[in-house]
Amino acid sequence: MKILAIETSCDETSAAIVEDSSDKKTATVLSNTVASSMDMHSKTGGIIPENAAREQVKSILPVINEALEKAGLSFDTSKTPDIDAIAVTYGPGLIGSLLVGVETAKTLSYLWNKPLIPVNHLFGHIYANFIQENSPTPQFPLIALIVSGGHTDIVLMKSHTDITWLGGTRDDAAGECFDKSGRLLGLSYPAGPEIEQLAKLGNPKAYHFPRPLLHDNAYDFSFSGLKTAILREVEKLNIQQRGDKRQDPVVNDICRGLQDAIIDVLVNKTLKAAQEHNVSSVLLSGGVAANQTLRDEFMVRSSSLEIKLFAPPKSLCTDNAAMIGAAALFQDKKEQWENITANPELYFD
Ligand code: KG4
Ligand code: ZN
Repeated sequence: MKILAIETSCDETSAAIVEDSSDKKTATVLSNTVASSMDMHSKTGGIIPENAAREQVKSILPVINEALEKAGLSFDTSKTPDIDAIAVTYGPGLIGSLLVGVETAKTLSYLWNKPLIPVNHLFGHIYANFIQENSPTPQFPLIALIVSGGHTDIVLMKSHTDITWLGGTRDDAAGECFDKSGRLLGLSYPAGPEIEQLAKLGNPKAYHFPRPLLHDNAYDFSFSGLKTAILREVEKLNIQQRGDKRQDPVVNDICRGLQDAIIDVLVNKTLKAAQEHNVSSVLLSGGVAANQTLRDEFMVRSSSLEIKLFAPPKSLCTDNAAMIGAAALFQDKKEQWENITANPELYFD
């Protein structure tokens, strides 16, 4: 099956052409085009939803055109390209952004008379782990950790369709904690990648920030207290009044303490879930999974367990349509266009 996939849940506009690999165990990506309005949001210190939606409107058709062309197909509204279905992210996300992708997908579905496959963005992140060709494929049952700017969740998957949510954040997501703490420290949005770099220069012993719910038996997370601890430190040291934040050893130390606390909780809870449910595959996914220190820590702490760790290529950790196409291939829930509505609050069933 060959799919045109569309992703517009937040500030990335992406389209991809994806098909089953020859053994049907992974997805093959024929093209994956991503346009980001991140630079605009860096200037405003975060995403203004209306601006993100306007950028989606500008980018959606050129991005679809490019994805089709790169896959050797052409974009002609009167002639159906060689695809079997159209997949689209229908939630969760920003309503204005989601609507651009969903309504475009519905229009193309009607014009080309092809079914639509609605995809939950969160499952999309997980399926970025099923597009690595010529490498081992995750085995069920598995535990997936989704860590992005909007979500922090642990799910148990016994098959592509048997999925149980085990826990999630009660307040801020892990990526949100990186971004909001970064803002307090005077870093630009999104702060996750920069905090990772500055943390490498920091002293690991300088700060031990709280690790909320670390020893709680459930798989819930809470990161807002950590952000408050950073705020207290920023106020105490008058960080805002100091010079270049990127040359300041205290900022490096705080970044190190912050990142260590987030990673400690994520690794502990995920590996605990893996052991409790006796799984052999653990999948990392979402923008924060691009963090190399997080990946390394997972490697170290899982090395004595019988667990195989999977993480997508870094370019597929952040939002993209290839992962949406991969999820659509394996979850294959074809619908008529009339039945699809964007749902910004979509979570796990
Ligand atoms: O998955 P994603 O692109 O968007 C959402 O669905 O939210 O994730 C974006 C998040 C941002 O919070 C960003 O700071 C974080 O991923 N992120 C990182 C890194 N790269 C991106 N966080 C920590 N370390 C990184 N290297
Ligand atoms: Zn995402």
